[in-house]
Amino acid sequence: MKTRFLISFVLIVIAVCMPGCKKKAPTPQEPESKPEVEVKETRLMSANEEPFGQTADGRQVTLYTLTNTNGLRARITNYGAILVSLEVPDRDGKLADITLGFEALDGYLKMDTYFGATVGRYANRIGKARFVLDGVEYKLAANNGENHLHGGIKGFDKVVWRPEDLWANDNEALLKMSYISEDDEEGYPGNLACTVTYTLTKDDELKISYEAETDKTTVVNLTNHSYFNLAGQGTGDILGHELTLNADKYTPVDEGLIPTGEIRSVKDSPMDFTLPMSIGSRIKQVGNGYDHNYVLNSGGGTLALAARVYEPTSGRVMEIYTTEPGVQLYTGNFLDGTLTGKGGKVYKKHYAFCLETQHFPDSPNKSDFPSVVLQPGQKYTSVTVHKFSTR
Ligand code: GAL
Repeated sequence: MKTRFLISFVLIVIAVCMPGCKKKAPTPQEPESKPEVEVKETRLMSANEEPFGQTADGRQVTLYTLTNTNGLRARITNYGAILVSLEVPDRDGKLADITLGFEALDGYLKMDTYFGATVGRYANRIGKARFVLDGVEYKLAANNGENHLHGGIKGFDKVVWRPEDLWANDNEALLKMSYISEDDEEGYPGNLACTVTYTLTKDDELKISYEAETDKTTVVNLTNHSYFNLAGQGTGDILGHELTLNADKYTPVDEGLIPTGEIRSVKDSPMDFTLPMSIGSRIKQVGNGYDHNYVLNSGGGTLALAARVYEPTSGRVMEIYTTEPGVQLYTGNFLDGTLTGKGGKVYKKHYAFCLETQHFPDSPNKSDFPSVVLQPGQKYTSVTVHKFSTR
């Protein structure tokens, strides 16, 4: 009994001492460190900030970082309320940045691609850059041929947002920013007070919520314009990503990408993503690629599943839930290899996809489309959740 006890004791002593044996002996300058204890890294939800440079007119801009307990990390700047990067684990737990963008502010100041940006006052196109509200014609900035695109020449993506809130608790990390768009800015009526809130949850969701109020009848349609590549940004095209859209219909467009007003079934056409289908399987049949608004089956108004994207090599899955009635599928058709982004990556055609949750393009001129009119005393709200998992 005694011998057994002694052997066990010696074995335990050896086991405890072994890891220490690998350690090099401390030099005279190096004080003996405390015994090494294996500490399992526990990540906390966190929300931090650091300087991100300044705009051409000398305004200081900040970069905010939201991190969750699983290591997901979203970096956001208050210039354009832009999502600068989004790191998400693959099926082996390896993180990769899955959004296109730039390392420094300079890239964002020059871009015309809307990488990661908050887009407004009206996301997407308004035909002939005009609309009539209460019998008054409003003329907007024409920045896409004769049409108005993504809020005009200086849309919400090119202004400095005011930070309002930055915090983290056990469940989420949050950044809230605000912007007041003045009456007649880019031609829109009414002073519009807006907020955008990014929330990273412990359940691997990035939630983007918007609120807006006006002092004069106006139109509002806000979205986020992130370019995703679930295999990792800049690693190749997204044609092998498998997409499902909860949409039986879409809004066909004319040559200027303005909806004709028709709401057409996707059935028996390359527009059909009601069942999982690789983005590239029929893309050649849709000209330059997908750049279409889908009419979500939910009809909008309540948070509902709009899209699911699966990337087979990494196993990453992104689900998009939204309160919006539509989503623009854009397959990076205008990326042409002239932009170099984060990590020196060159962004070529179809290197990313966007799923911009929204009201339908040109709604101010289409009385049959869900209304985008906001009256004084009403509150505009819109919520979109990006939920990440692996398979
Ligand atoms: C998308 C739009 C495209 C293109 C792109 C920005 O939202 O649908 O047509 O304008 O933004 O390059």
